Amino acid sequence: MTMTDDRIDTVEMTDLAGLGHTDIDDVLDYVHVPTAKLPGYLDLYDRYLRQRWNVNDLDFTQDRADWADKMNDDSRNSFLSIASGFHHGERQVEAELAPLFFGIPEDYKVFLTSHLEDEARHTVFFDRFYRDVVGLEGDGIMDVLDGSWGYIQETFVGPFGLLAYLTDDLRRDPYNKHLQMKYATTYMIWIEGVLALSVMKITLNYARDFKVLPAYYTGFTATCRDEARHVQGGMRFVRQLLDEDPSYVTDIHDTLRTLLTMGAARSGYVYYEPLGWSEERVQALFMDQLHKKLAMVGVSLPADLEEMLSMVRPTLAGG
Ligand SMILES: [Fe+2]
Ligand SMILES: [Fe+2]
Repeated sequence: MTMTDDRIDTVEMTDLAGLGHTDIDDVLDYVHVPTAKLPGYLDLYDRYLRQRWNVNDLDFTQDRADWADKMNDDSRNSFLSIASGFHHGERQVEAELAPLFFGIPEDYKVFLTSHLEDEARHTVFFDRFYRDVVGLEGDGIMDVLDGSWGYIQETFVGPFGLLAYLTDDLRRDPYNKHLQMKYATTYMIWIEGVLALSVMKITLNYARDFKVLPAYYTGFTATCRDEARHVQGGMRFVRQLLDEDPSYVTDIHDTLRTLLTMGAARSGYVYYEPLGWSEERVQALFMDQLHKKLAMVGVSLPADLEEMLSMVRPTLAGG
């Protein structure tokens, strides 16, 4: 299904307060454009200048009341086990973006400054949510992160661990295009394009359908619109590398093979049901999100990867 121009305009133009009344499913659709319509880096930067929002405009008073009165232990625990992956994920994608700056096209460097600022703001958004709504305390960003660490699911470790390794490799060898492709596959295709957007859909559908957590809904929907720019910029970069040398597709496939192998191994279990989702539906969402990102760059999966994708266990984190 393609979006009507009306719905695209609403997502494109609305301010922070308006995003609180925008359907998250429209914002998720807004991420996906065909390869030929991937915006240029400077167009994305211009969009950032218009869409940038102030995290301190959000008032979490109603969210705090909803958290105490309208949610129960099951829904609070499910919510925390999902949101904590984001709390830590946003911080990591902020802190680990810098090595990409050195070896990318000049126009992408300009846009990447805005991407980095977005991730810092998303980190502050979660810091405020955990302080103002969940009630964690601490002197700085890391204190509050330490407080939510207990809710982190073991599946966080796989993709974010791989990103940490690739960040370190790229820091030492920032012009290596194989490394750039592996990094972009892990960061922009998988963590932002699949994990983040899936988790946004689950928690924001819950907030929308149960009419709870309005400031969380507003800020996280704005975060989702920011992710549309990050993913589109990342897909433009991936496409550009593939145009230079189509054999780089091997780096995409190899990286996805690693991610899907980690995703298939899990001993713990996360309860989605209190938020209205079955595990099968979450898995189908992951597959759909990955196929949509790959369609944006014109890449298909070999049969072994399709098979692995159908076995992946959902990871609850994002950036
Ligand atoms: Fe992002
Ligand atoms: Fe983010």
